[in-house]
Amino acid sequence: MKLTVVGGGSTYTPELIDGFARLRDTLPVTELVLMDPSAERLGLVGGLARRIFARQGHPGRIVTTSDLDAAVDGADAVLLQLRVGGQAAREQDETWPLECGCVGQETTGAGGLAKALRTVPVVLDIAERVRRANPRAWIIDFTNPVGIVTRALLQEGHRAVGLCNVAIGFQRKFAALLGVAPSAVHLDHVGLNHLTWETAVRLDGPEGEDVLPRLLAGHGDAVAADLRLPRAVLDRLGVVPSYYLRYFYAHDEVVEELRTKPSRAAEVAAMERRLLEMYGDPDLAEKPELLAQRGGAFYSEAAVDLAAALLTGAGSPYQVVNTRNAGTLPFLPDDAVIEVQAAVGSKGAAPLPTAAPVDPLYAGLIAQVTAYEDLALEAALRGGRDRVFRALLSHPLVGQYALADRLTDRLIAHNREHLAWA
Ligand code: G6P
Ligand code: MN
Repeated sequence: MKLTVVGGGSTYTPELIDGFARLRDTLPVTELVLMDPSAERLGLVGGLARRIFARQGHPGRIVTTSDLDAAVDGADAVLLQLRVGGQAAREQDETWPLECGCVGQETTGAGGLAKALRTVPVVLDIAERVRRANPRAWIIDFTNPVGIVTRALLQEGHRAVGLCNVAIGFQRKFAALLGVAPSAVHLDHVGLNHLTWETAVRLDGPEGEDVLPRLLAGHGDAVAADLRLPRAVLDRLGVVPSYYLRYFYAHDEVVEELRTKPSRAAEVAAMERRLLEMYGDPDLAEKPELLAQRGGAFYSEAAVDLAAALLTGAGSPYQVVNTRNAGTLPFLPDDAVIEVQAAVGSKGAAPLPTAAPVDPLYAGLIAQVTAYEDLALEAALRGGRDRVFRALLSHPLVGQYALADRLTDRLIAHNREHLAWA
């Protein structure tokens, strides 16, 4: 089995390699290709990757290359984890929206739109080349904004599934709090990528007992602390929002906070320099502790599980993924991309029906952000100031024309080199 990682020079890659090494019985990879435009990063990350495989006795071959077509040739699955413009572009996304009193974040709000505009054309070009090389290959997209990027891929008819680690993070956290195995925890997880709520926490599969009330009663403080939301919010809602909902539920507070501290991009860039230095150490043969300070915890487990389900039929039968709505949430268009539990197998991901209709408190926001994602994709595919403006005006965190205009000007000014039409 040949797997290719586009953006393989990412400092996240050792997390993935560690997962491939530990879970090799679930996913028997014989060739792993790390593709990246940066030869320097490939040298450092590829070196460590080979040492991790060797140390854990993984027989697979690790190949590094900057040639995309060679990298995807014959691949059974291609994982996308690239970042157009690197942390420097992310730093911009996190900064200029704040000048307009809006949240500065890499996937939520105006910054997320900028990232979508830079990323969608690049990802579609890669996907086209994957399809030419092997029309049966699966594309697993971890590249943000995952909802919009996955929608772009599916709209073009690619065999793609979008992946995020928020749900697996909750699964692991709740399992630890409840004292059960992670595989025993089944989340009723509903919404869009980075806009989700856990509406039930079931034991032993989709029909199992809902222990969410018990979890909140016993461990509400621990759950709330992780999300940086007041415990009372969780108690009043009776569900667990993802930490990305903080950008909505505590928007003004977050803007104030972000204004007074260094950007996450700057923190990550500093961490990346340290990590790359460590990766160059020939004695290092495991993922370093420092990597745990990145946001990608359990990414490798989720990716292995998904690839295994798609390619071999092994892996968990139900997984939280980003896939086509197809009637699952009746208040959204069929071609919207939603993030929910799905039955995953060699034919792809089929969303499970929701146990109960989605509460209007969440459905309203989901519907509005879906409309934004649709307009964002239009802007990414066809360009033009007016399409950027329309996407921003539609966003629940923007909504006013003067604000949308100011954000539009800044978005274009800061991203000109990445936007073919600007
Ligand atoms: C979580 C999200 C990812 C995001 C990451 C950022 O894992 O699910 O989509 O890329 O956080 O982490 P970072 O360490 O780059 O801030
Ligand atoms: Mn994510």
